[in-house]
Amino acid sequence: MKVALTYNLKKDSTPVQDSPAPPDFYAECDDQETVDAIRAALAEFHTVVLIEADEDAYERFRSERPDLVFNVAEGTWGAAREAQIPAMLEMLRIPYTGSDPVTLALCLDKARTKEVLQARGIATPQFRVAETADQVAGLVAGRGALPAPGAPLLRFPLVVKPLSEGSSKGIVDTALVRDADGLAREVGRVLALYREPAIVEEYLPGREFTVAMLGNGDTLQVLPVVEIRFDSLPSGVNPIYSYEAKWVWDTAEKPLEIFDCPARIDRELALEIETLCRRTWDALRIRDWARIDVRCDAQGRPHVLEVNPLPGILPQAEQNSCFPKAARAAGLSYNVLVRRVLDSAIARCGLRAGSGAIAPPAHFSLR
Ligand SMILES: Nc1ncnc2c1ncn2[C@@H]1O[C@H](COP(=O)(O)OP(=O)(O)O)[C@@H](O)[C@H]1O
Ligand SMILES: [Mg+2]
Repeated sequence: MKVALTYNLKKDSTPVQDSPAPPDFYAECDDQETVDAIRAALAEFHTVVLIEADEDAYERFRSERPDLVFNVAEGTWGAAREAQIPAMLEMLRIPYTGSDPVTLALCLDKARTKEVLQARGIATPQFRVAETADQVAGLVAGRGALPAPGAPLLRFPLVVKPLSEGSSKGIVDTALVRDADGLAREVGRVLALYREPAIVEEYLPGREFTVAMLGNGDTLQVLPVVEIRFDSLPSGVNPIYSYEAKWVWDTAEKPLEIFDCPARIDRELALEIETLCRRTWDALRIRDWARIDVRCDAQGRPHVLEVNPLPGILPQAEQNSCFPKAARAAGLSYNVLVRRVLDSAIARCGLRAGSGAIAPPAHFSLR
C-alpha cells in the first residue's frame, strides 16, 4: 500500500509572520527523528512518501494519490489547524488515520470540548473563558461578582491556560494561581503572548493520569494507565505537568522519573478511569487513537482535563513520551504501535493491503 506520512516539523526560529511569536510556538510539532521513526515503522510493510503539512500539501496529495495517509500534522495557523490536513483529504476522498476534522477542531478548543463532556454528564473541572482582561473579575466567587447567566463562579486555586494549545504550551509553573492578582497576571500573559482567549479552570489537587487508547468499536483497547508523579519535579514547584516539567526539567540526557506505568491504582479507580475515557471517546467520536488526560479531585474521583486525538509519539524511551510508554507496558514496540494505528484506519475504511484504496463513503463517518 502507498502510505503518505503528513507532519509539521519543528523549526529553529519562530515565524516572522507572527512576530512576536511565543517562544514555544513549535512545541507541538514533530522533530526529524520522530518523523524518521514513524516513516521507518510504516516502511516495514508499505511504500512511504513524506508530505510536509504546508501550503503545498494539497497539490502533493493530488499528485501522489496515496492509498492512505498516516497523519500526525499539528498544523501551523488557526484554531482549526489540526483539522486542515484531514479536511483536504476528505475533499480528495483519500482515507487517513485518526479522527475527522470535526473532532480534531473540537478537541483543540478546550472549552468547547468540556461543554460536550458536560452535556454528556462526564466529569471535567468547572471552567470559564476570558477573552479580555476586564472579564477576569467576573469569573471568581467573592468580590460581589455576579456570574453571567448559566456560568459558574470559580473558586481558587485555578489553572490558567491558552484555550487552543497543547504540549503544555503556555502552561508554565505560575499558571496555577491562588488569588485575584495571580489570576489577572496569568490571564494577561496568555492573552498577550498567544493572542487567544484563556481558559480558567478550577484546580484539581488529586493524582493525575494519562490514558492511551487504540482501535475502534469492539477492538478499542485502553492501554496501561500512566501516572504523572509530581514528587519527581524539582522541590518547591507547583504540582502540575507544566511546560517546564515537559520540556525543560525533563531531558533525554537527564530524564525525570515522572511516569509510573502501569499506574499503581486499585481496581475500582482503574475501572472508573477506563469508563470515563471510553465515554469521552464516544462523546467526541474519536477514531483509531487518542490520549486522554485525567486528574482526580480532592475526593479521589477522576475528571477529564483534556483530550489529545493526535497524541505525540517520541520514539526513544528516554524522551519520556506517554503514548509509546503505555504501548511498551502493553508489550507493543514503537513500530507495532504505529502499525496498529494504521491497521485500525485500514480496517475502519474497509481498505485491503496491496489492493489500493476502496473509495470510502462520502460522509467519512466510518467508526
Ligand atoms: N484543572 C486542572 N487541575 C489540575 N491540574 C491541571 C488542570 N488543568 C491543567 N492542569 C495541569 O496542567 C497540565 C497541562 O494541562 P493540559 O490541559 O493537559 O494542557 P496541554 O493540552 O497543554 O497538555 C496537566 O497535565 C495538569 O498537570
Ligand atoms: Mg495535556
